[in-house]
Amino acid sequence: MRSNPFIVFEGIDGSGKSTQIRLLEEYLNARGHRVWRTAEPSDGPAGKLIRQVFSGAYPADDRVVAGLFVADRLEHILHAENGMQKALNEGYTILCDRYYLSSYAYQGVHMPLDWVMQANSMAASLLKPDLHIYLDLSPEKALERIRKGREDRELYETMDNLSRVHSLYAQLIKDLAGRENILYIDADQGPQNVHMKILEGLDKRWS
Ligand code: TMP
Repeated sequence: MRSNPFIVFEGIDGSGKSTQIRLLEEYLNARGHRVWRTAEPSDGPAGKLIRQVFSGAYPADDRVVAGLFVADRLEHILHAENGMQKALNEGYTILCDRYYLSSYAYQGVHMPLDWVMQANSMAASLLKPDLHIYLDLSPEKALERIRKGREDRELYETMDNLSRVHSLYAQLIKDLAGRENILYIDADQGPQNVHMKILEGLDKRWS
C-alpha cells in the first residue's frame, strides 16, 4: 500500500461510516498525515443532481441515477482542483465515504450487476482504492440507528431496499476478495471497538 493510501469506506446507510471516518482522520492527523476527507455523491454538478433526485425534487429512471453516479465518480477522480487523483499526487491520504462498490451494491439491486460494473469500469481502471473498509451491520440494526439519528434518510431508505443492498454487499465482498483489497469489519460492536479493529487491519497492510 502506498504511503498515502486511498481508503474507501463502504456499508449500508446506518453502518457507521461517518463516525469511523472521523475517528480515523483524527488518528492519522495526530500522527502527522495530511488527510483529505471526501464522499460520494461529491459536491460537483452530477452529485448535486443526484441529491435533488434523492430528495424527490424530480423523478429519475434507475439507469439515469446509475449514469449520474458514473459521471460524478469520473469528475471526483479527475477534477483539476478538487480531484482525488490530484490530492493523492500531492501526498494526501484520502478517506472516501463510498465509491464504486456502493454503485455495485445500490444500483445492482435495480439493474443487472454486470451492467453496473461495466458502467463503472472506467473509474475502476483510473483509480482503484488501496483499501475498501467494509462495515457490516444487519439492516434491522442499521435502520434502528438511522431512525435515531437521521430521520431525513428514511425519505429514500426502506427496510426492503436496505436488506437487498445488504445481501448484495455480502455477495460482492466474497466475490471481489481476489480482485479488491477489502477489510471486513463487524460494525455491531460499538464505535471504539470498530475503530480499533480498523487500526489493526490497517497496521497489517500499511507499514
Ligand atoms: P450517503 O450520503 O449517506 O452516503 O448517501 C448516498 C446515497 O447514495 C446512499 O443511499 C447510497 C447511494 N449511492 C448509490 O446508490 N450509488 C453510489 O454509487 C453511491 C456512491 C451512493
